[in-house]
Amino acid sequence: MKQSQFSLRAAALCGLAAIQGASAHLAAYTNGMYCPKNTYQGPLTNFTDPNHVVYDPLFNLPKDAWFLSKGRNCWLAPPTGVWEIQANSVIQVPWANSANSHGYYADGKEQNERPQPFSVTNPAVIAAGLVSSSGGINSPNMHAGNKSTAAGTAVAIAYKSNIYDVKMEDFVVFTTAPQTPFERLVTYNIPNLKACNECLCATVWIPDGYGQQNMYMAPHKCKIINPKGGQQPKTPSLVPGPNVRGPKQMIAAFQANGNNVQWKGGQKVPTYTSRMGFTAGAQTDIF
Ligand SMILES: *[C@@H]1O[C@H](CO)[C@@H](O)[C@H](O)[C@H]1NC(C)=O
Ligand SMILES: *[C@@H]1O[C@H](CO)[C@@H](O)[C@H](O)[C@H]1NC(C)=O
Repeated sequence: MKQSQFSLRAAALCGLAAIQGASAHLAAYTNGMYCPKNTYQGPLTNFTDPNHVVYDPLFNLPKDAWFLSKGRNCWLAPPTGVWEIQANSVIQVPWANSANSHGYYADGKEQNERPQPFSVTNPAVIAAGLVSSSGGINSPNMHAGNKSTAAGTAVAIAYKSNIYDVKMEDFVVFTTAPQTPFERLVTYNIPNLKACNECLCATVWIPDGYGQQNMYMAPHKCKIINPKGGQQPKTPSLVPGPNVRGPKQMIAAFQANGNNVQWKGGQKVPTYTSRMGFTAGAQTDIF
């Protein structure tokens, strides 16, 4: 009896894994990421987000569940290292589905293993079965039909080290990368951030269509290296929006509560772009 219960549970878990694999989205993999093994693997079962995997999207959740992906218990799965970021440099971060990802695209394929142009408008891409039911590239679900329709990602920082002691208002977006994620490696320009031994960073993404509207907000332990000192960004009192200049918070949208940007179907999606007041690359209006 006991054994059959176990195998039922194992079968259910396998099914879950298969579904998650099929709908896999993307996350930024750094040495400082929470949930470095993709999920919390301890004994607690009190998830408040039906998605448990770090690369799955956040949708229709209460603030206590979506903020820094807390509802997946990733705060209980601490990083194995620290994400070291050199100020005034250009860094590359993989957006993928595993810590040991490789290849030109997030699914491990090289550029010459995908029809070019790699676009859902290319009949060879359609013939290869790479288009999802929502009209985007499906391997993994990139929420984009090609590079020029990828919405853009961003990185934010809080000059605080205790994840239980940070709020939305502590995080300022310091860099954006237009037309990402699409290729696995995303390039970010880093402004003249003040050195910080133990800070918290967040990698964020709001896709523009090609599926249900949702968002991504994953926490990382980060360290800013700046031998020249640098500047500490101002606390971002500003919520992102069209023509908003100055230090801006991350965007919270499509959730059950706690949104700082209200979105109605049919409106333009609030992406990390000029639509919401962000310039491309290092944000220099944050100091
Ligand atoms: C689950 O319980 C632990 C221990 O009480 C707590 O630290 C954690 O925040 C809880 N997780 C969620 C998602 O509420
Ligand atoms: C990318 O997709 C858009 C929207 O479908 C299309 O207008 C554009 O031509 C595509 N670009 C390429 C390089 O195929």
